[in-house]
Amino acid sequence: MTAPLLHVRNLSVTFPRGRQSFKAVDDVSIDLGPTEALGLVGESGSGKTTIGRAVLRLLPFAERNVSGEIDFHGRPLTAAKAAELKAFRAQAQMVFQDPVSSFNPRRRIEEIVAEGLRIQGVGKTEIAERVDTALAEVGMSRSMVEGRRPHQFSGGQCQRIAIARALALRPEMLVCDEPVASLDVSVQARVLNLLRDMRRARSLAMIFISHDLAVVRSICDRIAVLYMGRIVEIGDVRQIFERPAHPYTRTLLDAVPVPDARAKVVPSPERAVRASRLEEEGGCAFRTRCPFAQDICARVRPELATTPLGQQAACHFPLPAAAVPA
Ligand SMILES: Nc1ncnc2c1ncn2[C@@H]1O[C@H](COP(=O)(O)OP(=O)(O)O)[C@@H](O)[C@H]1O
Ligand SMILES: [Mg+2]
Repeated sequence: MTAPLLHVRNLSVTFPRGRQSFKAVDDVSIDLGPTEALGLVGESGSGKTTIGRAVLRLLPFAERNVSGEIDFHGRPLTAAKAAELKAFRAQAQMVFQDPVSSFNPRRRIEEIVAEGLRIQGVGKTEIAERVDTALAEVGMSRSMVEGRRPHQFSGGQCQRIAIARALALRPEMLVCDEPVASLDVSVQARVLNLLRDMRRARSLAMIFISHDLAVVRSICDRIAVLYMGRIVEIGDVRQIFERPAHPYTRTLLDAVPVPDARAKVVPSPERAVRASRLEEEGGCAFRTRCPFAQDICARVRPELATTPLGQQAACHFPLPAAAVPA
């Protein structure tokens, strides 16, 4: 890979929880190339959003809960001062799951799209130009939005406005956190196509968070599979889909898609806490759900290692290609 745009080493994020602390992200390392799209997948509570927010320095709590290195363009983001952080805000943007709640409901749409540019100190004429261009890129126009506020638009339109707001800053990297999960199925494809087109047209690097593997497959070059805050497998999209090495990845691929996302079972935080305690005792966090677990899985925590299939998996018994039915 050429020099990575984003370089993350040993990122850990802990939340205080009662008397103990809870590791939401545990020793995660990621390199993202300048035009690469990396998918982050894993069940609810596995730490996807926390990773996305951490790499954009958007976590809503003290930095002391975060450890590890995050470099952007080879410069440490963790040590960035206010001016550097402001410049970074133009280079890296986030698209959230629920666009409406990321908007100030009292603002007019053109103000919402222009807000980041104003913060960056862009001049009035250029702001107007860039807002028009960004709206056009997402299939909208100033005359469609003029004087109107977020509640006057559908979820899909709001997400397109949120994408316009991000693109207006001409970022190099976009973190998309379940960007279509809250939308009607009928508009999901439209927003996904838009993100895919924008990625190519703008040569964007992307971290694409989703619990939907089909969505990730359609947009990403590589995939990192998270389980309880740790990457258990990472590799090219084709490797992960055609020859998954980690039993958990197999479980995800085998899961029957539920048409209504709201019907999905959300694991309770309590379960995650219990399992993370298990992990502190040593061994593999997935072993209690793993059909291939052996004694060693309870004693020794598997580290990410390159498998004979080419991807990296954190498993004592990575699945051989032969075990995967076509
Ligand atoms: N602000 C917070 N305070 C305390 N715990 C949090 C906070 N944000 C997330 N968590 C916990 O961290 C874990 C990972 O959450 P998250 O990153 O949102 O997972 P995902 O996006 O994969 O569903 C969850 O157990 C969640 O309850
Ligand atoms: Mg999330």
